[in-house]
Amino acid sequence: GRRVTVRDLAAAKERGERWAMLTAYDAMTARVFDEAGIPVLLVGDSAGMVVYGHESTLPVTVDDLLPLTAAVVRGSSRALVVADLPFGSYQASPAQALESAARFMKEAGAHAVKLEGGRRILPQVETLVSAGVPVMAHLGLTPQSVNVFGGYRVQGRGQAGDELMADAKDLERAGAFSVVLECVPGDLAQRVTTSLAIPTIGIGAGAATDAQVLVWQDLMGLTPRPAKFVKQYADLAATMDRAARAYADDVRSGAFPSPEHTYL
Ligand code: KIV
Ligand code: NA
Repeated sequence: GRRVTVRDLAAAKERGERWAMLTAYDAMTARVFDEAGIPVLLVGDSAGMVVYGHESTLPVTVDDLLPLTAAVVRGSSRALVVADLPFGSYQASPAQALESAARFMKEAGAHAVKLEGGRRILPQVETLVSAGVPVMAHLGLTPQSVNVFGGYRVQGRGQAGDELMADAKDLERAGAFSVVLECVPGDLAQRVTTSLAIPTIGIGAGAATDAQVLVWQDLMGLTPRPAKFVKQYADLAATMDRAARAYADDVRSGAFPSPEHTYL
């Protein structure tokens, strides 16, 4: 079968069909999610935390994300693979944004890129779209601006909601194919979703968005203190802890490897 395309996602909104997006950072995880029918995989700069152990997404570079993106593309066959443009790889100019996006598409095989920000990055969005790069926008709590927000807190309350709505409409007009809404009040996400023809993808944005996204380690129970908006669908930390302890116990006792795990 062929890959999901941005046109399929537009058609899903017209039919009123919701869909789920997940992050992925390696080939095996990408394969599992792809085979589960997840239509869009995001190689997020959340890799800065969940893969590389940084405190924020700010240290992440294009070179950090390129090999992860290539692995996710190789591990999947149906999903649309979106690569995050990391902090400092697109803000300077439209030319810088295109150079970074082209690396993700040429060197890693990404099908689209995601950028954080509203009206101040419209020239970047326009340049990417006219160069043939599908652009996913990202508004609300944009983690690359954590030092401006003064922490990871809800965005778009009160007057700021009108600003976010204006940003969303301008991003749609500039050609973005979708917009992530992170940590915004549910009623604002609902108003943006009904005002736009392109799909909205919520994370901590309530139930009204056209799609949802979560960082897979949050969903699977690997994150020590997940945010309020995370629903945990598995407890992999406990499963892996039990397995690691059982393996170490068996090695110490001599129970592993047994004859069945030994070549004759
Ligand atoms: O980096 C990331 O994982 C993201 C999603 C949470 C939207 O940007
Ligand atoms: Na991100």
